[in-house]
Amino acid sequence: MSIRRTEPADTASPPPFPEGWYFLASRRAVEKAKLIGKTWMGESIIIWCDDDGRICVAESHCPHLGADLGPEAGGRVCDGRLVCPFHGFEYDAGGQCVATPFAPAPKAARLRVFETTEYVGLIFAWWGIDGRASPWSLPAAPDQAGWSKLDIWTTRFPGHPQETAENAVDLAHFRYVHGYDSVARVEPVVTDGYRLESRFDFATNRTVAGIKLLSLDLAARTHVLGLGCSYVEVQERSIPLDMRVWILATPVDGTLIDLTVAMQVQDVRNPKRRIAGLGFLPVRLRAPILNKFLAPLQHRDVRQDVTVWTRKQFRPRPRLSRADGEIMTYRTYCAQFYPEPRSVDGHHAAGNEFPRQALESQKQ
Ligand code: FES
Ligand SMILES: [Fe+2]
Repeated sequence: MSIRRTEPADTASPPPFPEGWYFLASRRAVEKAKLIGKTWMGESIIIWCDDDGRICVAESHCPHLGADLGPEAGGRVCDGRLVCPFHGFEYDAGGQCVATPFAPAPKAARLRVFETTEYVGLIFAWWGIDGRASPWSLPAAPDQAGWSKLDIWTTRFPGHPQETAENAVDLAHFRYVHGYDSVARVEPVVTDGYRLESRFDFATNRTVAGIKLLSLDLAARTHVLGLGCSYVEVQERSIPLDMRVWILATPVDGTLIDLTVAMQVQDVRNPKRRIAGLGFLPVRLRAPILNKFLAPLQHRDVRQDVTVWTRKQFRPRPRLSRADGEIMTYRTYCAQFYPEPRSVDGHHAAGNEFPRQALESQKQ
């Protein structure tokens, strides 16, 4: 796969791998598979977990003689250790070689591991330019009491995490692409370091097979936490019903991204409005069933976006209309995720022109 490089200013795409926390897999998926191999940021990596539930994300090639440690190559997890298929070196969840079959473990045999964090049962890893450590963490996860389990769905397409997250501030597309009514900004977009918040109200009719099932009056509060992780708190005011939708974009190889949508719904105790069949269900079943019903509608919205994302070109100097709102506020916020790479002597190297271009384009 080709990797997008820095191009002349008018057509330049953002560098393909902005710094940030990126989703890799749910804890459930890792515990079930024990060992997962993936391509992430143009590199082969493995994700595995030991018997105590410690999760390790590491390069997938063995520091001994370079064998692939992934499951397709014969890598496996045995007694809580990752075992290389070539000469049987064993690694702990910190990436250290702790045993070999025929000799003491060499101290220098150590996997390059990535920082990880867990957030509502989702495993994220930190991608730093030049391997730099994370200067910020994802905030505390929202309370889970009374909320359904996450419904998780992933789709892969050619795209970029900056472009997908930009839709959070692009109010015009909600009307034009998704057909929402009365889309109105409630407050200006707010940025604070790595966080951006976008609040707006909208209304929509949800139909299945041409039959109008629900008309919804909604308030959305989007939290963008870097370019890999956003979540939207959505409150439906007429039922009332609270939902959360995580939109997680993870670069694969410089061209493709995996976009994961994770959704959950809060228990509905006293609906003000009748929803077919809901009143007959025990409270504990309402949220999971509503989540199963609403998640495909969310996926439909994402598919509509994917049609555009897959084919669009990045415009560093977009010709905006008055209806576009705060696209450039968002672009300024994004520039922090492209720090200049350091040269070998520790000084900033030339080459990552994108932040400067992005900021200059504000002045046009
Ligand atoms: S290459 Fe992994 S143990 Fe030899
Ligand atoms: Fe959208």
